[in-house]
Amino acid sequence: MKLKIAVVPGDGIGPDIITEALKVLGEVGMRFGHRFDFSFYLAGGAALDAVGEPLPESTVLGCRDADAILLGAVGGPAWDHLEGRLRPEQALLGLRSQMGLFCNLRPAVLHTELSSACPLKPEIIGDGLDIMVVRELTGGIYFGERGITDDGESAFDTMTYSVDEVKRIAKIAFEAAMKRGKKLCSVDKANILENSRLWRRTVVEVSQEYPEVELTHMYVDNAAMQLVRDPGQFDVIVTTNMFGDILSDEASMITGSIGMLPSASLNADNFGMYEPIHGSAPDIAGKDMANPIATVLSCAMMLRYTFDLNSEAEAMEKAVTEVLAAGYRTKDIHTEGTKLVGTRKMGDLIAEAVKSQK
Ligand code: IPM
Ligand code: MG
Repeated sequence: MKLKIAVVPGDGIGPDIITEALKVLGEVGMRFGHRFDFSFYLAGGAALDAVGEPLPESTVLGCRDADAILLGAVGGPAWDHLEGRLRPEQALLGLRSQMGLFCNLRPAVLHTELSSACPLKPEIIGDGLDIMVVRELTGGIYFGERGITDDGESAFDTMTYSVDEVKRIAKIAFEAAMKRGKKLCSVDKANILENSRLWRRTVVEVSQEYPEVELTHMYVDNAAMQLVRDPGQFDVIVTTNMFGDILSDEASMITGSIGMLPSASLNADNFGMYEPIHGSAPDIAGKDMANPIATVLSCAMMLRYTFDLNSEAEAMEKAVTEVLAAGYRTKDIHTEGTKLVGTRKMGDLIAEAVKSQK
């Protein structure tokens, strides 16, 4: 199979982790007989420096023309003074909205090998952690009307959801729950926000089609607390753009490090952009220190969701588990008694594990 992938390394550690993920993908291609065709595009600060805008038309066209997008991270202090449309983050938001990537899947899994890197007490973490956060990605406060008064003394951002927007993300969350533990928790702030009340009512409506799924509702403040009090109670979480942004960072830390969490952003046709949920970590960029695992696991999600290549995805995930089981760790997940390695070595080890798997 020939697979055309638009690669957008971005800023900071973006290029470091993307290089390793491509190394591992290359090895998967060799083993399973697929040809990956990588085309590289600029976005974020890198694009601002090169052409003066965060999301050049050429990047959008290249991404549209590909079968899937692999993105590193965008942003950094060099561009922090920029405002509005010139902010590097606009590249991400632009890609998400222009490609219609309304569904963001963020699986938070605690690998047993990493239990010592998990900041929660063993009795809290119990049997481990396996949560799927389903985040709405092209609506809500991220894309609502916003503004600031001329004197700069007052500003506003609006949070809007339509029934159709809630329905389509709820359906995906129910489908995910059906394939997993059949439990769905919808997170909102329905005690305060009108759009949350619409959200809740719509999720309940969709639930009629999924009688096997046990649906619960939780206010976002309580959900933030419950995630660290008893994370085992969650199976699938469905929530809005901003609440999902916040809760997925929190969930990632339970897995040992934000450097472990992959994501898939999908449209209605399963076209997707795949990226780690972490940022560009400019302080460690180019220092061979970043953890490439979230990006490698994002590639596994790409193989599974966009290309339907399940054995290939499993081979990548298994390779990560094997390397962790052998005791190798990047700095963010390093604990006493484990072997500290850099970004490149971690990539080499995972690629090697893909190759030598039976
Ligand atoms: C994420 C990031 C982005 C978001 C930023 C960089 C725009 O935090 O993907 O979680 O808020 O969605
Ligand atoms: Mg985030």
